[in-house]
Amino acid sequence: MKTLLLFLLYWNLSEALSPRTVAVIGPTGRLGRQIVQELSTQGISTRCLLRHEIPASTSIKSLEEAQSSAEIAAYLQSLPNVTFVKGDLSDVSSLRRLLEGCDACAWNYEGEQLLRSSGMDYIIIRPGVMKDSVEENTRYGLRDNGEDMKVTSVSYHQIAALAIQSLEYSNCRRATLTAMNDADGGETSYAPLLARVQPDRRVFPVSLLEEHRKAARVGGLTIVTVLVWMAQATVKVVLHLVGSF
Ligand SMILES: NC(=O)c1ccc[n+]([C@@H]2O[C@H](COP(=O)([O-])OP(=O)(O)OC[C@H]3O[C@@H](n4cnc5c(N)ncnc54)[C@H](OP(=O)(O)O)[C@@H]3O)[C@@H](O)[C@H]2O)c1
Repeated sequence: MKTLLLFLLYWNLSEALSPRTVAVIGPTGRLGRQIVQELSTQGISTRCLLRHEIPASTSIKSLEEAQSSAEIAAYLQSLPNVTFVKGDLSDVSSLRRLLEGCDACAWNYEGEQLLRSSGMDYIIIRPGVMKDSVEENTRYGLRDNGEDMKVTSVSYHQIAALAIQSLEYSNCRRATLTAMNDADGGETSYAPLLARVQPDRRVFPVSLLEEHRKAARVGGLTIVTVLVWMAQATVKVVLHLVGSF
């Protein structure tokens, strides 16, 4: 498996293993909302980056009923210990404001390499295909050192729980974890798997993001080529029709 879609989770563990305040980027996303909700339940404060205002007219619905990003944000804001910071991931100043006074940060961003080279402590989680439904009798699988696993689906709830639980394990500092379900060799909980985790021991390819960007550019070029080809074909048909009158 070549992981090009990355979920990045960063916990600044320099202060303490049990954080008091966690910054969450992407709180309204399907994974982010579960992390915020669970942290709130555990009495841990979150500071969430939100790129839009919550209109005053937004009604507070349950998470199941909330449809729009604003409705989800309004719900999260109603939870204890949840605050929002307005800003965009691409705006460094809003990130600085977000991270002020935070001990940990859950970050949805393709920035593994930036994080590794920053010298800060981190836990990176590469999940399988995430879905809402939770399967019974799940066998949890986890590999460290960014090792590949057979891609399977995992629930958002499961990955949110792993993100929070991994905080309690000092051996997970500077670790890149692959989290899939493993029907054959898996465990019934994350605890024994987390206990065996070791920090990253290999050099990760620097060119991965560049390869991704190249692939995206080639993909974009292909789409543009197809569009140009379709436009040319349409013009030919129209000219043919005009000529036949
Ligand atoms: N879903 C999967 O199967 C899967 C598998 C592997 C990895 N991943 C990665 O895991 C992460 C979480 O997945 P998900 O399914 O929860 O994603 P999602 O539902 O699409 O949520 C994305 C979140 O990021 C926010 N966001 C997007 N661009 C932003 C920006 N420029 N500035 C600030 N916030 C921004 C969105 O805010 P708005 O509400 O404003 O849109 C939303 O809260 C993603 O990075 C994804 O690529 C997902």
